[in-house]
Amino acid sequence: MSLRLIEGGRSQSDAPGLLIHGASQIATLAGGLRRGSAQGDLALLDAEPVGGPGSPAAPVIACWEGRVIGVGPRDGVEAGLEANGYSLSRFARLDADGGVVTPGLVDPHTHLLFAGTREGELVLRQQGAGYLEILQAGGGILSTVAATRAADEETLAAHGRRWLDEMLRHGVTTVEAKSGYGLDLATELRLLEVAHRLGREGPVEVVPTFLGAHAVPPEYHARPDGTEAYVRHVIEEQLPGVVAQGRARSCDVFCERGVFTADQSRRILRSAMGYGLAVRLHADELAPSGGAELAAELGALSADHLHTPSDEGLAALAEAAGGDHPTVATLLPATTWFLMADEAAPARRFIDAGVPVALGTDFNPGTSPTPNLPLVMTIACLEMGLSPAEALAAVTINAAHAVGVARDAGSLEPGKLADIVIWRAPHVGQLPYWVGADLVDVVVKRGRVVYRRGC
Ligand code: NIG
Ligand code: FE
Repeated sequence: MSLRLIEGGRSQSDAPGLLIHGASQIATLAGGLRRGSAQGDLALLDAEPVGGPGSPAAPVIACWEGRVIGVGPRDGVEAGLEANGYSLSRFARLDADGGVVTPGLVDPHTHLLFAGTREGELVLRQQGAGYLEILQAGGGILSTVAATRAADEETLAAHGRRWLDEMLRHGVTTVEAKSGYGLDLATELRLLEVAHRLGREGPVEVVPTFLGAHAVPPEYHARPDGTEAYVRHVIEEQLPGVVAQGRARSCDVFCERGVFTADQSRRILRSAMGYGLAVRLHADELAPSGGAELAAELGALSADHLHTPSDEGLAALAEAAGGDHPTVATLLPATTWFLMADEAAPARRFIDAGVPVALGTDFNPGTSPTPNLPLVMTIACLEMGLSPAEALAAVTINAAHAVGVARDAGSLEPGKLADIVIWRAPHVGQLPYWVGADLVDVVVKRGRVVYRRGC
């Protein structure tokens, strides 16, 4: 695909530096994880009060060899570069043309790799079938498992490239990608290997997560102790194999009534922690299942979905938010929308309780077949009452924390990767406003232009 031709080379020039100027606003998101009343603090640099995007005091970003080295007023940044030996002649210039500039978006929850599609379930749900009902009848996740087991590495990689390119066109530069459609060691390893390979290919960074406990596979269904036997298989066979392979950065479990209990999830995740993996979980998606409590107890990077947390779960996450290991509430409003749920996750309760909130697509073939993270921001504003600024923080700095990549991604600060989006919009309030629109003009990844509208 054309976008990939740019990979490995600077598309504009061979200069080691890049200076982005002409922005109407730069949402830097500097200053760390956002929670409570700071959820919507964008650390915004605005050109308007200082004479507009062309003025010497308008904000710019300077990048050097793939990392941000300066953000601030053009005159100050340029003087600082020269004073520190970075000759301005070594910077390619990129004109934001009056658009908004933000960090590259981070999608903190995707099931990127799978085979087959499940459009039939949309119709079944319209006729009244429930999500777990379809799963228990052998459809849902299990039908994707059958198709994925039959798909070879190249087929999965081609699928992954196609959807990563779509994500990139929507401003996403880092993606968390779960396995979980193999449910046997060989296929889980294949999925993790492909995720890793796609990240190496670039330009989108891919962070693989092991989700062996996504469902109980069919070969265990006939056994009276099926779920328990599969949990032991995940702990005793899959996890050691995944750790030996060394691709997964974290471990996830679908902790849900009727799937894996909180106790089973705890055993799997504690075992993963014993190997040094970070943990996260699908928590309280369809019913309160002790998932939020467990995420807080384990110091999980994130607790995801949280459509129906208990009061105790919410309190546990609020308490964790004040400690050394805050768990990010990663909410997935496209999923509740696509499942036609009556209500979205209680995002405002999380924010009011000081729990940091991130947003993800949950890209998958059953419950959220969308690669469009800006659309998820829109749904979050409409269905969960987030402000546009809160939604932007949720797909940048907070999402980076949820994925465990905040040292490098999620904000525009000296030292971080130069992952940057220029939007065809004059202020950040328009990002979720143009519903489903294609607003991305340019994407820069590690200091290189990797996508440009119309090219
Ligand atoms: O996050 N709920 C569990 N896993 C996915 C759905 C996967 C599927 O239906 O294929 C989710 O929504
Ligand atoms: Fe999911």
